[in-house]
Amino acid sequence: MAKLLVYGSLNIDYVYQMPHFVQPGETLLSLSRQEFAGGKGLNQAVALAKAGGNVYFEGAVGKNDGTLLLQVLKDNHIDLTFVKERDNMASGHTVIQVDPHGQNCILLYGGANHSHSKEEIDTCLSTFASGDYLVLQNETNDVAYIMAQAAAKGLKVCVNASPLNQAIFEMPLEKCEFIIVNEIEGSALVEEKEDADPYLILSKLKAKYPQSSFVLTLGSKGSLLSMAQQDAVIACKAYKVQAVDTTAAGDTFLGYFVEQISSNVEPQIALQRATAASAIAVTRKGAVPSIPAIEEVLAFVKEHGSTLVDKL
Ligand code: RIB
Repeated sequence: MAKLLVYGSLNIDYVYQMPHFVQPGETLLSLSRQEFAGGKGLNQAVALAKAGGNVYFEGAVGKNDGTLLLQVLKDNHIDLTFVKERDNMASGHTVIQVDPHGQNCILLYGGANHSHSKEEIDTCLSTFASGDYLVLQNETNDVAYIMAQAAAKGLKVCVNASPLNQAIFEMPLEKCEFIIVNEIEGSALVEEKEDADPYLILSKLKAKYPQSSFVLTLGSKGSLLSMAQQDAVIACKAYKVQAVDTTAAGDTFLGYFVEQISSNVEPQIALQRATAASAIAVTRKGAVPSIPAIEEVLAFVKEHGSTLVDKL
């Protein structure tokens, strides 16, 4: 069984239910406030573990405020040998507004997520081998470095190019086995408009990074999968569900998809299960607490059927 390493963020999410997103110059009373474990790295690691993966985490929290985050890793049987507790540093955190439609907007504070040294990265990577998987997002420092080092060792690197900022454009994405992006990230990588035809975005991504496979997620429309060196595009419609909070839906999708691929599940079945996992996640509040177990995902697909289609 391949080892699945996540190098990523651990955030405390402060989630505020709002009548609408705060506008410039506006002061708006929130309807409620809740605190959840989150961070793209942690969410994806939990999704990988709940899907059945053998998961390892490299990350960092503040010594004084990281207890909840460490506990989530332990509860999900994720190896935390390479998780550091930093003195005099706060854990990463977010302020998340959720509107009545379940949409969110996120203010992100990096904190300890940006404290990794190259030596720590090298030490961690030295315990992984060719054929193991590395899952990356863009909420930690030196992602480009670990991407290059891991690929050179033969690890299968899967990157979620999110959140989108200049660091993404400086990463050696051509070394990645899987690049998982939404339409905003995908279009930016190929200098297309956000509302361009998703099939055009996908074909331009494939032309730019011919060695990589792609998943292009399209929110409530669904997702497209294109494997490296293959012309076929696999399309999967999203399930229609009542969304209460979309936070971590993309992370849940990614974790399930990568774990299933690493377990040699057929790509279209991996895509279908990832779609179901994220559909369940949006019906629940919070990041980590919204991620379903594999049994729930399999039961959901059985009950609601296939949403694979010829074209979106
Ligand atoms: O993708 C959702 C995550 O993004 C949240 O849990 C938040 O921590 C931000 O990192």
